[in-house]
Amino acid sequence: MAEYVKIKLNGNEIELPVIEGTENEKAIDISKLRAETGYITLDDGFGNTGSCKSKITFLDGEKGILRYRGYPIDQLAEKSSFLEVSYLLNHGELPSKTELEKFERTVKEPTLPVEICALLDDFPKTAHPMGVAASAIAALSCFVPRENLDITKIDKDQVLGQLMESISIISARFFRHRQGKKIIGSDPNLSYVQNLYNMMFGEIPSDEVKKALEVLLILHADHEQNCSASAVRVIGSAQSNPYACISGGLCALWGPLHGGANQAVMEMLESIQADGGDYRKALDRAKDKEDPFRLMGFGHRVYKNFDPRAKIIKKATDTVLEQLGVEDPLLDVAKGLEKVALEDPYFVDRKLYPNVDFYSGIIYRALGIPTDMFTVMFAIGRMPGWYAQWRELVDFKGSRIARPRQVYVGENERDYILMENR
Ligand code: ACO
Repeated sequence: MAEYVKIKLNGNEIELPVIEGTENEKAIDISKLRAETGYITLDDGFGNTGSCKSKITFLDGEKGILRYRGYPIDQLAEKSSFLEVSYLLNHGELPSKTELEKFERTVKEPTLPVEICALLDDFPKTAHPMGVAASAIAALSCFVPRENLDITKIDKDQVLGQLMESISIISARFFRHRQGKKIIGSDPNLSYVQNLYNMMFGEIPSDEVKKALEVLLILHADHEQNCSASAVRVIGSAQSNPYACISGGLCALWGPLHGGANQAVMEMLESIQADGGDYRKALDRAKDKEDPFRLMGFGHRVYKNFDPRAKIIKKATDTVLEQLGVEDPLLDVAKGLEKVALEDPYFVDRKLYPNVDFYSGIIYRALGIPTDMFTVMFAIGRMPGWYAQWRELVDFKGSRIARPRQVYVGENERDYILMENR
């Protein structure tokens, strides 16, 4: 039986339907609220607002659950590959062998236009890789056939393949360019992850390194309506082309409160270590409301429990460092900090746990990836998720332009004042 909630406004009672998801999440449908009452809702930061119905990713922040298309993240991280997960996110089902081979060909086929390569080589070596990636993906829209900009004509799989291949070439090429090293082209005989690593380091990764990278990319592949996915959807709701949407997603991810946190975590751990390794000082600063400093890699809008991705990454960090024979003192700083934070009432009361970014940087560092490349590594992983979110949006028949309202709190009407009277 349909469920409704009743609200009373100005003496009028109205009924608002309750929508229930497949995991029993409930939402009040307020789409008729303004038309029937003149009221809107106000939800700063959208903490209580569902922006869409989606079939892609389910997460339960209270229980620490994350599933892509119903499959638990730990099973995918253990048994799957990044390309398989990319297919799953975009097509809803795990691929057959033939479907996966076809998808792999679609991803390997595109090459980066020479003009984009020239553009990459012209960026200053000091540029941030996320600025480079966002610009190069937006620029890619200028070098594709016009059909690729028309969302009614676009070959969605072909563009997904192009974007996945391009982001890896762009990141790896800029990585080598800024070190003044010879550029290594994409090799279609290698797997996606092997190729990425080879383009960056000029060697085929060991099985351990390959597995670690696969896991990191899988864990980052989607996370429902987060800041960057919402940015992709908001831009996409104007029927903008996918290159523009993804470029917007990259810009959103760059921020230190979102994907940029992995870089910020490493910088924080380095500064704690440089300061004698006293992580309790950092903890005290994070608790001080007069100090803007936050414990980077801690807290999450949705997770009020362990971020399941952080658990997997923490375990992988120990394994990778052992396999590579790397001893990183920052890992001890991170573990010490995590321990004291998890026992501290400030963090306990606010349910602040380590998030995906807390340990990922230590693995990247062990693989020889510099700190300011961390966020772009995240972006390589997130590409298929952003695309799946964009695709779901444009395939949804009732899709409308995203256009929130506001509560205006500025000046009331007043007359213009001539310059000489100001
Ligand atoms: N350090 C110290 N205090 C924190 C932290 C933190 N990392 N995170 C939240 N808090 C405190 C807030 O000050 C607030 O305290 P109050 O209730 O006394 O005012 C309370 O916890 C709730 O925090 P909000 O800011 O309301 O939480 P919100 O959901 O808006 O923010 C966010 C989530 C941005 C992730 C936040 O926890 C944060 O800034 N973390 C550090 C940055 C980070 O790691 N970002 C990566 C997130 S994962 C990702 O995007 C890939």
